[in-house]
Amino acid sequence: MPGLLSSPVCLTVICFLSWSLRPGCAQIRTDEVSGVQYGHMQSNVTLACGKSQIGVPVAWHLNHSSALPRHRVTPDGALVLLHADLSAQGNYSCHDDRGLLLHSVILRLGHNPGLLSVSCQVPNHTHVRCSWTESVKTFLPAKYNASFRGTGQEWRPCVLDLAHKHCDVDHPAFWQTIHTLRITESNALGSETTSVRFRLHELLKPDPPESLLVEGLEGHPKRLIVSWKFPASWPLHDAFPLMFQIRYRPQGSVYWSEVFSEDGPVVIFDALAGHLHQVQLRARDEVNSDSQWSEWSPLFVVRPWEVSSTSESPEEQPEERFPDNFFPFSTKPEIATAKSHNSVHPEDEGNLGLVILLVLFSVVILTTVLSLIFVIW
Ligand SMILES: *[C@@H]1O[C@H](CO)[C@@H](O)[C@H](O)[C@H]1NC(C)=O
Ligand SMILES: *[C@@H]1O[C@H](CO)[C@@H](O)[C@H](O)[C@H]1NC(C)=O
Ligand SMILES: *[C@@H]1O[C@H](CO)[C@@H](O)[C@H](O)[C@H]1NC(C)=O
Ligand SMILES: *[C@@H]1O[C@H](CO)[C@@H](O)[C@H](O)[C@H]1NC(C)=O
Ligand SMILES: *[C@@H]1O[C@H](CO)[C@@H](O)[C@H](O)[C@H]1NC(C)=O
Repeated sequence: MPGLLSSPVCLTVICFLSWSLRPGCAQIRTDEVSGVQYGHMQSNVTLACGKSQIGVPVAWHLNHSSALPRHRVTPDGALVLLHADLSAQGNYSCHDDRGLLLHSVILRLGHNPGLLSVSCQVPNHTHVRCSWTESVKTFLPAKYNASFRGTGQEWRPCVLDLAHKHCDVDHPAFWQTIHTLRITESNALGSETTSVRFRLHELLKPDPPESLLVEGLEGHPKRLIVSWKFPASWPLHDAFPLMFQIRYRPQGSVYWSEVFSEDGPVVIFDALAGHLHQVQLRARDEVNSDSQWSEWSPLFVVRPWEVSSTSESPEEQPEERFPDNFFPFSTKPEIATAKSHNSVHPEDEGNLGLVILLVLFSVVILTTVLSLIFVIW
């Protein structure tokens, strides 16, 4: 019914009919054509009383009450709300001296949109997500429109998700150095366009690596094996290698030790025997040195393997000692090499004993041989 009534032809017909049947056409027209009026907050807002004639006294009501915010009424019956604020919103109606409704309007107050603050995330080479926050609270429903392009290219839409205030572009032209995003916010009072320019390769920042797992190695109280998965949002493709940075420390220490690797698992050789360790890692595009490191993965807390009887490990070393000798080995075959390498490793207490025994034994042999030679001589 209201849609039908608002069409000009119908209005004219209805107006004519009611004019011939009733005393005032204006009353009916203003009665039917009620809507919403938007105003600027903290300004003087004028509400017209439909087409009421000059000199005819009118009475204004807000939400059916005659209590109005600070105002004045002009000679033609319009209501001017002075310095209107949010509390002035509501349903305004004006009535003639007999109390008949002449006109009603819903008043909503707010501000023009302001510039947006925009930030973009690039978790891989095929995806850009830009999110925004408003610098001005408008108090009014807003519409957005966003588009995106590389230098010299066509604008293409950035697909909006209004609930989360972000928009997405798939397969941006990564080879273009500079990209521009344009977001327009508009509401009943106006619109504002925010443009931001950025370099995708500098914003490239993978999500943190996933499924971090750190385990002790049986028989090796100073070793930890670190494994993980690529971030799910990073394509598993040779064309996009990642560099990983692993850091670890005994719980309570302030110094981190670091290992870099292109692939997992990685063996840590200098864990502090018998102590809990914190381990975490992050990733970065290996080729593009302008890109950013991911956030660190959540901490993984682990204790190296230990013999239950030697849980009171005598191996108490100052913290400064362990960062300087670590041996990053990255792949499984290399673990095997590391193991065989271990048999001549002087750090292992058992092997040290064996070496001492051998030396003692050779000294004894040497002494015996020397004394024999001496006796014979
Ligand atoms: C609003 O109206 C008052 C009274 O008429 C006037 O003094 C004031 O300057 C007006 N303010 C604005 C922003 O127009
Ligand atoms: C009038 O009613 C509207 C809608 O119910 C409400 O939001 C507004 O606060 C009311 N205004 C006043 C002054 O009571
Ligand atoms: C506003 O008030 C008028 C008069 O009381 C009423 O006829 C009209 O339905 C109201 N409008 C809304 C949207 O509540
Ligand atoms: C949104 O922006 C695009 C490109 O700038 C333009 O073609 C389109 O008309 C805009 N849409 C609206 C609703 O403003
Ligand atoms: C790139 O990241 C987006 C967002 O996380 C994801 O939806 C998309 O599948 C990723 N692309 C590839 C090729 O993994």
